[in-house]
Amino acid sequence: MIAGLVLSFLLAGGEAPLPLMNDCAGCHEDQVAQFSTGRHGRAMAARSSELLQQSCASCHSGAAKHLEDPSSDSIERIPGAPACAKCHSSAESTIQLGTPGHVRNKVSCLDCHAGGHETSERESLLRSDSREFCSGCHRPEAARFELPFAHRDESREPMDCMNCHSIHGIGRVSRLGALDKNGACVECHGELAGPYVFEHPPRQVEGCGSCHDVHGSPNPRQLRRHSVALLCAECHGDLPRSHDATSARYRNCTGCHSAIHGSNRDARLFDR
Ligand code: HEC
Ligand code: HEC
Ligand code: HEC
Ligand code: HEC
Ligand code: HEC
Ligand code: HEC
Ligand code: HEC
Ligand code: HEC
Ligand code: HEC
Ligand code: HEC
Repeated sequence: MIAGLVLSFLLAGGEAPLPLMNDCAGCHEDQVAQFSTGRHGRAMAARSSELLQQSCASCHSGAAKHLEDPSSDSIERIPGAPACAKCHSSAESTIQLGTPGHVRNKVSCLDCHAGGHETSERESLLRSDSREFCSGCHRPEAARFELPFAHRDESREPMDCMNCHSIHGIGRVSRLGALDKNGACVECHGELAGPYVFEHPPRQVEGCGSCHDVHGSPNPRQLRRHSVALLCAECHGDLPRSHDATSARYRNCTGCHSAIHGSNRDARLFDR
């Protein structure tokens, strides 16, 4: 979770004071009422009534000019990240660390958050259920959840994206919501957390995603390939002579290498 608001800007000496909510109320009664009774406004007021008073001008840059010349052109309607960062600098900096794709493509705070006058009561002021707004931009990933084997909830809807992904990923490995590449998975699949005496290296290097596509797969074990042998062949082109790739017995790699996630007994990933 993101801690600590930077409120010092409110106290910055020497600058002209920000216009207050009361200065707007005469002409924008509806927005004032909506914002100050909504969840965001209430949260601000809980910090201090001064903070709420300064909120309109914090989000809507140009407010001082707008008071002199009240028109659509004199004020910013939709606040960008810098406006939010006046109070949420840590949220802005951690999203930079967390998801390069979102930063590079200028996904805005308001693509995910209901920062405006909507009366969202969702946790973290999210616009909607994460499955809806994430899927809106990530259609190919969302579509995979329709494949026969996938992470779904009881009503067969995709599992909440935030179970695995971290958007504000402070100290986390880029896109997945955990401290190491296996972490997001082993929160639920704890029996595979390891460590093992004999690790299977791809797990260490690329994480569980090097073999599984958990958004959805035709394979019952949610593997990235239709069959185990095809998956193994991606990295193990050169098999020992004893292995006869034409025999069904040998194609069932995990029939023998059953400790595929790591073994405490044998470097060749046997259980026994
Ligand atoms: C004297 C009346 C008046 C006051 C006071 C006033 N506004 Fe406005 N505001 C307007 C008018 C007129 C518009 C043009 C759009 C419209 O007709 O609603 C407008 C538009 C806006 C818009 C939308 C801009 C857009 O691009 O559509 C925002 C945001 C806004 N005002 C915020 C504020 C804030 C914040 C304050 C207080 C600091 C404030 N206003 C004070 C009259 C006022
Ligand atoms: C957290 C940021 C934030 C704060 C604080 C905020 N607004 Fe807004 N405001 C927005 C956003 C975002 C929109 C655009 C909403 C949309 O397009 O749906 C908006 C739109 C508006 C508009 C244009 C009309 C409309 O409803 O779209 C006015 C006027 C306005 N705000 C006035 C105010 C006033 C007055 C305050 C102080 C009570 C205030 N805003 C506080 C984010 C904020
Ligand atoms: C407004 C569109 C938009 C929304 C909303 C959005 N994303 Fe993205 N996301 C993108 C774009 C664009 C990229 C970069 C894709 C690329 O580089 O190919 C991206 C990249 C990603 C990546 C890859 C990591 C990276 O940094 O490149 C993940 C994971 C991701 N998004 C998850 C999510 C999740 C989870 C949500 C919902 C909480 C979400 N996204 C909401 C547009 C969006
Ligand atoms: C791609 C979607 C996305 C974008 C873009 C995004 N956020 Fe978030 N934000 C989330 C989600 C989802 C959460 C819920 C916490 C979690 O599960 O990581 C969250 C949580 C938060 C929180 C609450 C943290 C807490 O302690 O509960 C704040 C504040 C926040 N975001 C602010 C921002 C600001 C400011 C920006 C723009 C600089 C921004 N967010 C951009 C998705 C996003
Ligand atoms: C004037 C300061 C201020 C501005 C500007 C501001 N916020 Fe906030 N915001 C707050 C305060 C105060 C809270 C309550 C935080 C708390 O209680 O920990 C909050 C809470 C939040 C939360 C978390 C709600 C939750 O459930 O924990 C999100 C998300 C958020 N703001 C997003 C935004 C976005 C997006 C913008 C820009 C459009 C923005 N804020 C602009 C002061 C501000
Ligand atoms: C059960 C865990 C899990 C869930 C739930 C989940 N993801 Fe993922 N997602 C992953 C893994 C693992 C990766 C691969 C990460 C890697 O290899 O770096 C990934 C990758 C992604 C990527 C990047 C794809 C690329 O090719 O770069 C996007 C975008 C994404 N997920 C979006 C979503 C969306 C949207 C949802 C919700 C509808 C979602 N994910 C739900 C685990 C999950
Ligand atoms: C929020 C909890 C949760 C998270 C996080 C999670 N899973 Fe799962 N996973 C489940 C549940 C529940 C099942 C269904 C188990 C069942 O049907 O027995 C499942 C099933 C699976 C299966 C199929 C298992 C089987 O027996 O067929 C695989 C493979 C899997 N998960 C891998 C992963 C990977 C890899 C990650 C990380 C990217 C991950 N999971 C993250 C809860 C989770
Ligand atoms: C080198 C490839 C590879 C990696 C990396 C990998 N898995 Fe697997 N996983 C498999 C294969 C293959 C199976 C199917 C085993 C079988 O045939 O029964 C499997 C099966 C599973 C199952 C089903 C139950 C079980 O124990 O057989 C779960 C759950 C699972 N993996 C989770 C994970 C998690 C969590 C990670 C990361 C910590 C991970 N896997 C990393 C290849 C891999
Ligand atoms: C993403 C690449 C990747 C995938 C997929 C993969 N492996 Fe590996 N595997 C490795 C690497 C790297 C090593 C370490 C090789 C070394 O140290 O020479 C390894 C080691 C092994 C070993 C231990 C023996 C040795 O050479 O050290 C066995 C057995 C093995 N893998 C079997 C499998 C099987 C069976 C599958 C399919 C379920 C599989 N691997 C999938 C990359 C992979
Ligand atoms: C019938 C059991 C069995 C099956 C099925 C099997 N293996 Fe093996 N594998 C072994 C044995 C025993 C060894 C070690 C002795 C040897 O080199 O033949 C071994 C060795 C290996 C090694 C190299 C280990 C080293 O020390 O260099 C790799 C990699 C490997 N297997 C991958 C696979 C893959 C990939 C498949 C599926 C296409 C597979 N195995 C199917 C029994 C099996």
